[in-house]
Amino acid sequence: MAQEKKYNNIQWLDRNESQYGPSPKCFEFLKNVTLDELGWYSRDFARGVKSILSEKISKEFNIPERQVILSYGSEDLLKQIIQYYLDRKERILIPREAWWYYKKVAYEVGGFNVEYPMHKTKEGGVATYAYNVDKMIEIYDRERPRIVLIASPNNPTGNRISKDDLKRFLDACRGALVMIDEAYWGFGSKENDYVKPFIDEFPNLVICRTFSKYFALAGCRIGYAFAGKNLEELINYSVRYLGFNRLSEKLGEIAMDDDEYYTRVTKLMQEDKEYFYAEFKKLDGFTPYKSYANFMLVDMPKEIRKDLNKFLKERNLLIKFLDEEAFKTETRITLGTREQNMYLIESIKEFLGKK
Ligand SMILES: Cc1ncc(COP(=O)(O)O)c(C=O)c1O
Repeated sequence: MAQEKKYNNIQWLDRNESQYGPSPKCFEFLKNVTLDELGWYSRDFARGVKSILSEKISKEFNIPERQVILSYGSEDLLKQIIQYYLDRKERILIPREAWWYYKKVAYEVGGFNVEYPMHKTKEGGVATYAYNVDKMIEIYDRERPRIVLIASPNNPTGNRISKDDLKRFLDACRGALVMIDEAYWGFGSKENDYVKPFIDEFPNLVICRTFSKYFALAGCRIGYAFAGKNLEELINYSVRYLGFNRLSEKLGEIAMDDDEYYTRVTKLMQEDKEYFYAEFKKLDGFTPYKSYANFMLVDMPKEIRKDLNKFLKERNLLIKFLDEEAFKTETRITLGTREQNMYLIESIKEFLGKK
């Protein structure tokens, strides 16, 4: 029997935002915001640090505060790095199967993209994209880019690079500034033990993270990064003498302290990824890809895309039907709540006439 339309509002499962929201303690804090937090600049710069948040991150990772950069989301940091380091006609090496936005930024400063491909393989019985480090090194040696970008986990493929592969690649491209975009850190693994050794060993490395995804604070626009010792100019360039958004800094701190909440949400999402793998594998022509993020890439028959999109939209379900050079038949589905995820699967099955 056809299901009733379940939601009266659009369910945005197309933007990699959290459907669970941040820690409830963030909402509690906002009820009691003080005059100085709203009306005054922070006094942190005068204390010799950027922010209470960079101080906290510095302590947590045992990396000098000076080498912790704060930004208005990791988008801001990506732009700062490219604008500061990429001169006209210089090259940035980026993944071919990647966030469309990477492909755009170099051109804004007259630079060029060079792309390296990923390949497809299997991990634990699930299809996955994978970094091909030999190929990346070969392209790096040939092109000698000024900046190299790796995303782990990568958007929209959802795969990550292993620590060993990463180290091998970093060793090979010591001559470039290397940016690792870890915007989706936390969902598939909360591993952090490589951060300090890599930042100490590779002076041209920047590891970028954000509070937008795992901590579900995208609206607050807080990103941060660890910068290697040679990147003094980037560190100076990114400093804001009048401080950062004081509410966001505080919300970031509160989120970092509520490990229990985020672990619980991540566990639910992990269970739902298993549910997605199992359900999509049952459908003819559908291939789910292994995800270490809060979304999943799913390949599906090209001929149903248009009608399925329309069918889901009529039910107020939005998922992202990718249409770019590297992805013509794939969709990227942001993990929702359990209820949203089940409704999505039921709706797709209903569309396919499987119910
Ligand atoms: C791979 C990747 N990096 C960075 C970002 C930017 O996130 P933010 O600017 O919210 O930190 C996004 C946003 O979707 C993303 O997908």
